[in-house]
Amino acid sequence: MKTEINGETGIMGIIGGNINKTLSPFLHNTLLKHYSLNDCYLPFQISTDQLPAAIEGLKALNIKGVNITVPFKEKSMEFLDKVENSALRIGAINTIVHKDKLLFGYNTDFIGFKRSLMEEKEIEIKGKSAIVLGAGGAARAIIYALCQEAIKEISIFNRTLDKARKIEKEYHAFFPDCPIRIFPIGDRCLQDKINRVDFLINTTSLGSYPDINLNPLPENILLNQHLIAYDLIYFPAKTSFLRQAEKAGAKTINGGQMLVYQAVESFYLWTGIRPEMEIVRQLIHKFHSKNAVISNQ
Ligand code: ATR
Repeated sequence: MKTEINGETGIMGIIGGNINKTLSPFLHNTLLKHYSLNDCYLPFQISTDQLPAAIEGLKALNIKGVNITVPFKEKSMEFLDKVENSALRIGAINTIVHKDKLLFGYNTDFIGFKRSLMEEKEIEIKGKSAIVLGAGGAARAIIYALCQEAIKEISIFNRTLDKARKIEKEYHAFFPDCPIRIFPIGDRCLQDKINRVDFLINTTSLGSYPDINLNPLPENILLNQHLIAYDLIYFPAKTSFLRQAEKAGAKTINGGQMLVYQAVESFYLWTGIRPEMEIVRQLIHKFHSKNAVISNQ
């Protein structure tokens, strides 16, 4: 964002149901400022019944693009002119691009997850195995990324088995070589699987603000130092799940890097600019500082 908004300032933003703590405006406005673009990024908090009008309104108001967040990532797809293939398969979008009077939907969450592991942490996915806790929209993006990178095996543990079953069935058609097994969250084999897998990924909301003492793992589960424990939650920065993993000596990652990388991908879709690695690193650093301040408030 330039220091001054004028008649030519382009508008981007985020549409969500409860976004008063979102850090997306911080990330995008930092990037817009860095590249001296005459654009600004704003929050649009709406209720469910306003979703069709809000998306239709993007055209009327000539908004360049928006991020879409909880709880509209699935529902918003039906109001778009075209949805990119990966987003269609995942069944959710998080980015809309408004171009030539048409609205295009993308999912940059799964790319953000991959980049947060492979580029930021230099962790390979190929040939590894993973437990995914949860089977909602976020889980679908993560599992899509893992399958695309040729993971050896995925075990989904979820409270509602039907949702996990749907993922197993649909993804088997796209990735026949990637075995997905499904279990109810309380299944006895969880401990045994945890003892043997590489990644343990929490995609549920359990442990996020304000219920920060919740943990997606059943009681008495033991973690170990060989695990990479990844929590998609970034607020608080260290969830109960990550604290437990850290205590066991596991490598821990929170959802902050993924958030930054998905933002960088959305930014590219809107502006055509791919922020270089140095800028992304600085952005991650700024994000963590900002998040720590907010987490302590
Ligand atoms: P998102 O788009 O963020 O993934 P979602 O689609 O609502 O959100 O999915 C939330 C996930 O967290 C689901 O896997 C959900 O389990 P169900 O499929 O059984 O609903 C899981 N989750 C949320 N609250 C939970 C709870 N109290 N106990 C166990 N799992 C929970």
